[in-house]
Amino acid sequence: MSHQEWWRDAVVYQIYPRSFADADANGQGDLAGIRARLPYLVELGVDAVWLTPFYPSPMADGGYDVADFCDVDPRFGTLGDFDALVADAAEHGIRVIVDIVPNHCSAEHPWFKQALAAEPGSPARERFIFRDEPNNWQSMFGGPAWTQVEDGQWYLHLFDSSQPDWNWRHPDVPALFEDVLRFWLDRGVAGFRVDVAGAMFKDAALPDLPPGTPPDAEPSPYLHQPETLAEHRRWRKILDSYGDRVAILEHWSDNPEIMAPYLGDGQLQQVFNFTLMSTPWSATDWRAAIESSVAITASMPITAPWVLENHDAPRLATRLGVDQSIIRNPTEEALRGEIDIDRTRGLRRARAAALIQLALPGSAYVYQGQELGLHEVLDIPAERREDPIFTRTGGAIFGRDGCRVPLPWSGDAPPYGFADHPVRTWLPQPGDWARQTVAAQSADPGSMLNLYRTAVRLRRAHFGSAPDLAFFDAGEGTLAFTRGPGFALVANLGQEAVALPAHTGVLLASGPLEGDLLPADTAVWVSR
Ligand code: GLC
Repeated sequence: MSHQEWWRDAVVYQIYPRSFADADANGQGDLAGIRARLPYLVELGVDAVWLTPFYPSPMADGGYDVADFCDVDPRFGTLGDFDALVADAAEHGIRVIVDIVPNHCSAEHPWFKQALAAEPGSPARERFIFRDEPNNWQSMFGGPAWTQVEDGQWYLHLFDSSQPDWNWRHPDVPALFEDVLRFWLDRGVAGFRVDVAGAMFKDAALPDLPPGTPPDAEPSPYLHQPETLAEHRRWRKILDSYGDRVAILEHWSDNPEIMAPYLGDGQLQQVFNFTLMSTPWSATDWRAAIESSVAITASMPITAPWVLENHDAPRLATRLGVDQSIIRNPTEEALRGEIDIDRTRGLRRARAAALIQLALPGSAYVYQGQELGLHEVLDIPAERREDPIFTRTGGAIFGRDGCRVPLPWSGDAPPYGFADHPVRTWLPQPGDWARQTVAAQSADPGSMLNLYRTAVRLRRAHFGSAPDLAFFDAGEGTLAFTRGPGFALVANLGQEAVALPAHTGVLLASGPLEGDLLPADTAVWVSR
């Protein structure tokens, strides 16, 4: 593999800056906090970090409402802090990927303020999607996708009303984003995670949808328009002019026909693979999900990065701790009292899932706290919730705050070392995280954290970039595959212990084995 393709099998750690580490003790994480914790990431063994937005923002959507695409919000630090972070990370061999948000900006962006101050039909309004009459599109966050302004016109926002959508057909918009790419590439970023990458262009006719169509249904007049692919090709040329830089697209779709064009020749390099985030815990389902994902990219020289958690979805240990036959969204259902969560079982399965994820060919993304086996925080009081989904649905949907709670580093009470001083963290931390902290888990050889550390190290040593993946039958309820001749993963997703297939040694196990039996909800890496 050439150096240019470092991203193909990289382990990338997703940092949600507001909740990672708080150097200035104001209750919110910051860039200096990340910089101070680089040794932690080195010990974890990750190749790169992806930082979700840290740009100036009113924080109506956790920073995905960007008021200035080329600066740092004062709550996170300065551009100088960013440069220092990139430089220090490079010294540790860690690359930095940043988020780019091309679908919308914040209502506080100067161009949107100009648009509001300008007349209907003026050039300033043309940079956004203003109309005299709205169509029937709904926001992804609930409620209508249009908001009326004082003079009677309406503007489109696929997300919150504070996130107006750009009009990508106005030449200023592509020009702005090409400058934004170069701004961060010049500062040494390794690439971009592209937010809502398929929504940039809308069907120019803005056709109504059949009544009752869910906002994320496909095909869609605001997703996957050919002009979006053309713009991505222009971005790819910019990336290539800088050498080994990469872009990873966010698309919440598992339709191979829709995804394949994004990975075609001259397109951006990667698309997240979210299939395992919604696959029920069964060997048949996991195998089918893995096989269909691999099939999408079989004819292409890439594999899509595997994701088990991110800042938009319930924590894995919680998701796997509920009855897998009925599960849709454990946060919502548990908070409505409809289901019970078996935390012990969920964590056991999350440990096994980690060994599956890290044994698969291609890149793996690990969301901060996933390596600590954190559960979704369910008991956040309504008045402390910040996700716009909660407010836009009148509290009917609790939303994503529960996976965004500040990390526990040490100690036995909040803020658990998140800041050096007692602070009120922006989201409340639970009272029972003392055994979840990085310090507590570092001292425990059997902890989730140490499982991740060992797995990342062994992954590199044993199979690195070997692409070959071959499933084999290891008995009822098991998921088993080899990666080359000497290595196999066997995971028991069934109810009963099973005999381990022939092997020469156990490299790593997600939980205790029973002699030569692999207990339920346990995975092993074996040499053969
Ligand atoms: C993406 C982000 C999510 C954000 C949305 C709107 O899905 O991951 O956090 O709310 O885009 O920008």
